[in-house]
Amino acid sequence: MKISVIGCGYLGAVHAASMAELGHEVVGIDVNPHRIDSLQRSIAPFHEPGFDALLLKNSSRLTFTTEMSAAADATVHFVAVGTPQSADGSADMTYVNSAIEGLLPCLSDGDLVVGKSTVPIGTAERLSEQVQPTGAVLMWNPEFLREGFAVEDTLSPDRLVYGVPAGDDGDSATAILDEVYSEIIAKGTPRLVMNFATAELVKVAANSFLATKISFINAMAEIADVTGANVTQLADAIGYDTRIGRRFLNAGIGFGGGCLPKDIRGFVARAEELGVGDALSFLKDVDDINGRRRTRVAEVLTEELGDLAGKTIAVWGISFKPDSDDIRDSPALDIAESLARAGATVVSADPEGWKPAQARIEQSGLSDSLTTTADHRAAAAGADALVVATEWKVFQGENAETIGELMSGNLVVDGRNCLDAESWKAAGFRYRGMGRA
Ligand code: UDX
Repeated sequence: MKISVIGCGYLGAVHAASMAELGHEVVGIDVNPHRIDSLQRSIAPFHEPGFDALLLKNSSRLTFTTEMSAAADATVHFVAVGTPQSADGSADMTYVNSAIEGLLPCLSDGDLVVGKSTVPIGTAERLSEQVQPTGAVLMWNPEFLREGFAVEDTLSPDRLVYGVPAGDDGDSATAILDEVYSEIIAKGTPRLVMNFATAELVKVAANSFLATKISFINAMAEIADVTGANVTQLADAIGYDTRIGRRFLNAGIGFGGGCLPKDIRGFVARAEELGVGDALSFLKDVDDINGRRRTRVAEVLTEELGDLAGKTIAVWGISFKPDSDDIRDSPALDIAESLARAGATVVSADPEGWKPAQARIEQSGLSDSLTTTADHRAAAAGADALVVATEWKVFQGENAETIGELMSGNLVVDGRNCLDAESWKAAGFRYRGMGRA
């Protein structure tokens, strides 16, 4: 089947390559010529495990272009453009609207347009009306991929969600998308068919639930810090209850990235527009708890070191999560910047995130006090304190004694509760975790 994918960011580029892996002929379309140039040469424009190999393996079935007209040859068109956060917290629909407007002249009778972007509830209904006069049908098929596992999550998802229009169109659209995903469906992947509003809601509800779970355990970390309890043991103990589950109960400096923070704010903004803002007032608390995690590290450092002005601090981690170079709304980078603003000299290390962070640091005018490196040991050299802000495996496996010899001070603040506290203490460190007495 011939497929176009509009938008080649994390979501679209991985989706395009994955559809080629399923045997389809795919064209990826994006307005960014640098991204297209890189993808066309089978070079991933961002760090994502397994993605380079997937591009290369499927290069004979994959093309990338900036020309929307290339979509005219395809029968299925995935819309995977970004919906960033607007100044008022709502989702910015500029890219989705312009993708659909650009696509309309390329559509033919019987084509299928499949929305994958995370959008405010009500969007699919509106876009469906726009698409209908061309004879094409619109579906909504939200994506749940995690960065770092994007290829795996696309090719082996937990479930497929189809938002369909009412009536016969819904059946015909379902049949076409089943053909696209036949290999995934054949593996027994659950496939749920529902109306547009439900499909749109599934995505934001899932992200809100995950964000709530993280903020719940971080709220418990706040309690643990004043009571002498240990939040990791607490998470283990409640996580054994299968109704609760242990995953996404890791307390620390909280969630970031291009999805969770903006999606919960966009959801709140949409609920307010719909007159049901009260139903989601708890998500504001979820956001507030998450924000407080970012100031907690500076509080702990100040408790231990006093005034941070003139201190040298190594921060291990810049990306919002390991195995990613994504620094959007990264707690690690936010913390490094706030320590630099407090007068400390900060060296941030990250295997991947150090490069994209440089431009942002220059823009924020902090380049004199905040520098980045790929070498986490070099960052630790001469530091008064070490903060672990992203749980890369290479940091967790580090030898505490070696790091102790490199540093001037002996304080480690484990912002992700990911180190073996006992071995760091045995190496002479003062260990401070998040919510761990
Ligand atoms: C998320 C959703 O998981 C995914 O389904 C959706 O499609 C996009 O948004 P992603 O942004 O890749 O994916 O990151 P995720 O793995 O969910 O982590 C989000 C943030 O939460 C990270 O900053 C991570 O460090 C943090 N986190 C996660 C915690 O602080 N504690 C946890 O227990 C789990």
